[in-house]
Parts: sequence; C-alpha cells; structure tokens
Amino acid sequence: MNIYITGASSGIGEYIAYEYAKRGAHLALCARRKEKLDDIANKCRQMGAEVTTYSIDVTDQHSTKESIDDFLSKITKIDLVIANAGRGELDALHKGDPTIINEVIKVNVIGVQNTVLPFIPIMLKQESGHIALVGSVASHIAWVGGGAYAASKFAVRALSESWRKTLPTTIDVTLICPGFVESEMTQKAKWKPFIIKTDIAAKKIVNALNKKKKVFIFPWQMRIVVAFKGLLGIVMTNAARKMYQKQTQKN
Ligand SMILES: NC(=O)c1ccc[n+]([C@@H]2O[C@H](COP(=O)([O-])OP(=O)(O)OC[C@H]3O[C@@H](n4cnc5c(N)ncnc54)[C@H](OP(=O)(O)O)[C@@H]3O)[C@@H](O)[C@H]2O)c1
Repeated sequence: MNIYITGASSGIGEYIAYEYAKRGAHLALCARRKEKLDDIANKCRQMGAEVTTYSIDVTDQHSTKESIDDFLSKITKIDLVIANAGRGELDALHKGDPTIINEVIKVNVIGVQNTVLPFIPIMLKQESGHIALVGSVASHIAWVGGGAYAASKFAVRALSESWRKTLPTTIDVTLICPGFVESEMTQKAKWKPFIIKTDIAAKKIVNALNKKKKVFIFPWQMRIVVAFKGLLGIVMTNAARKMYQKQTQKN
C-alpha cells in the first residue's frame, strides 16, 4: 500500500504510521519538524516499511504539492491519503486577537485542501483511491471556548460529505472523528472525558479505514454524545461556560 500521511511527527499521525508500517506499506510522512519525522521514519523502517519524509507546512500549497509530486514519482499508484495535520487552540475571545484562531482555520481547512486536491486527478485516472480526513467530535458539536476549532472541523465534515457525493464511487472518502486522544494537542487540556491512548486510537482508525467506513466517531461514548448533542447543550453549557470563564480569568 502507498500512503501519504500529514501530521506524522506526533500523536495520532505517528501511531497511524506505525500501524501501516507493520503492514509493510510505502509511507510518505509529512510535518514541519524534520528531526521528529526522521526518528519516526526509522522506527517505521525497522517495522518493515519503506518511508520518505517531507518536512512541509501544509498551509503552503506549493511545498505540499512538491512533496506529493515527489511521492507520486516513487510509486505506481496512490492507495490512501490521510489528511491528519491539525492545530487545536482555544478562541481566547477575551484577548480580542484573531491571530491564533486564524492559524487554526488555515492549518485545519486550507491544509486539508492542499493535501487532498493534488491527489484527486491521479485517483480519477487510476479509478481507485481512499481519502481520509481527520475531523473531530467537534465536527458535530461547537463547544464552549472552541469556536474556531469547531468551525474548522465542521468545514472538514462538509468537505468530506461533498467530496464523497461528487467523486465516483471508486474513490472512498472517510471522515474520522476522534473524541479525546492522548497527544501533544491534548496535553494542556484540563477536561478530557473518555480519553484513549494514541496506539489504541490508531488501531481503531486503521480498522475503520480497512472497512471503508464513511464516518467513524470514536470512542463509543462519543457516538452517544454526538447523538444526544442537543441534550448536552441544555444540560452542560452553563457549567462549561462558568468553568471557561474561571480559566480565562487566570490567563
Ligand atoms: N488528540 C485529540 O484528542 C484529537 C481529537 C479530535 C481530533 N483530533 C485531530 O487529530 C489530528 C492529529 O492531532 P493529534 O491529536 O495527533 O495532535 P498532535 O500530536 O499535536 O499532532 C498534530 C500534528 O500536525 C502537525 N502539524 C501541525 N501544524 C502543521 C502544519 N502547519 N503543517 C504541517 N503539519 C502540521 C504536527 O507536526 P509539526 O508540528 O511537526 O508540523 C503534528 O504532527 C488533528 O487534526 C486534530 O485536530 C485530535
């Protein structure tokens, strides 16, 4: 299998890489931090993978395209693209500065488009391929303090739905919606209900991709949360708002 993965220098992307490495895949691992990528690439090679690393910023359309062209020149067919790179930051509305949340939208939305679009003509030509977009439970619920993150992940859900309807059925599109998973992103979060380990999350994701699921929300508790999100809004918003206000007063 030939697989292009963004956000492979830590967390979910890193552990997805290990899962496919064990299966002997040819991997393109992408992220900005070169040293981290090199370490992970070496571990993947020891597990049996062929690996190329690309130190790129997914918000840069041209360098992302160059990495894709280079990977395509090494393979005969692209099997799977996993647009996983992402940023999670709180809105910090009280600071009145949109700089950070603009970056969240840029990485999580523009980055996904820069990653996936260059592969589409190739997938159309080869009449096969699988596009996996890493959304979030926040693709379904805009929670207190996380408006921009949710906006970016709602956009990712919209892209996945539309692309699935637009592309021929020979190309699969999967939206992956994790709840809380241990990673650099969740290290600073205080409230992480139902959090699961990164390796377990990666196994679940790869299993869902093997089954060509259209949407995969996990862990199971989060499927219930998404199903009853209206009730969650009524019962918990006030408490969450108070907690958020208390937290932002400290910063
Ligand atoms: N952990 C969770 O609880 C959770 C829940 C729901 C959804 N998600 C989603 O899962 C995905 C992976 O996140 P994670 O939890 O594994 O967090 P993470 O450990 O912080 O990993 C984020 C990855 O994205 C890369 N990245 C960030 N900005 C980038 C940019 N501009 N260009 C290229 N790569 C960039 C990072 O690498 P560099 O810094 O080296 O560039 C890193 O490899 C994200 O899309 C996130 O929104 C995570």
